[in-house]
Amino acid sequence: MAQPAPSSAQAPTPRHVAIIMDGNGRWARQRNRPRTFGHAEGVEALRRTVEAAGEAGVEYLTVFGFSTENWRRPAEEVNALFDLLRLYVARDLDKLVREGVRVRVIGGREGLQRDIADIIGNAEARTRENAKLNLTIAFNYGGQDEIARAARRVAEDVSSGKLNASDIDAKVFETYLDTDDLPPPDVLVRTSGEFRLSNFMLWQSAYAELVFLDVLWPDFGKDALALAIDVYRRRDRRYGGTTSESA
Ligand code: IPE
Ligand code: IPE
Ligand code: MG
Repeated sequence: MAQPAPSSAQAPTPRHVAIIMDGNGRWARQRNRPRTFGHAEGVEALRRTVEAAGEAGVEYLTVFGFSTENWRRPAEEVNALFDLLRLYVARDLDKLVREGVRVRVIGGREGLQRDIADIIGNAEARTRENAKLNLTIAFNYGGQDEIARAARRVAEDVSSGKLNASDIDAKVFETYLDTDDLPPPDVLVRTSGEFRLSNFMLWQSAYAELVFLDVLWPDFGKDALALAIDVYRRRDRRYGGTTSESA
């Protein structure tokens, strides 16, 4: 007989929700519009989602905005995505500061245009004291690149004598990741009906509950977030042990 799903009253709201915001291009194509139109609508969906996450009591929201593999796209589209990051910060930073949102950006900083690096640094500095919602934007981010950059810094610390090789374990290693001060995601959502991680939070998602939704990112908002949270709450997280009900 099927196990009854735990009721929502028992299961807590996820502390950390991570989202692969996918499907902007297909959303635009359905409307015979250029892909960049889909990306612009995607920013509106991000705005709605940041607000809805705060209302739902989520503490950490991490979104995948540009991957290390997205450089393979035509230059025009890559430029449009960078312009949207500029526009989002220019339009929303004051509001984020006011509303208690702490902004972080994870991903490689090398090779980013100077003004983008400045925009990121300024957004992080201006929101550093905020604690209501932690919004982390993964930009020029790839999980493999993040782990390789961390390994490089670990190697540097070993060769300079700051760290003993025999002291390296998972706990020590993860302090070298971009997500050093974030808890791991409880739920990882991907929109657009694709079933893959595309290099997102490979280390951090070890025990994340994966939720794949058949909604294109520009259509995402309060309802879709509530659905993802509801699906998450019905899952039984075991972390390699036995069922949580018998714990
Ligand atoms: C997600 O939408 C945004 C980014 C990857 C930057 P896509 O641009 O991947 O849209 P689809 O997957 O082609 O529909
Ligand atoms: C993942 O989506 C990257 C972002 C959402 C920023 P992609 O659209 O780039 O992933 P693939 O190419 O379908 O795997
Ligand atoms: Mg895509």
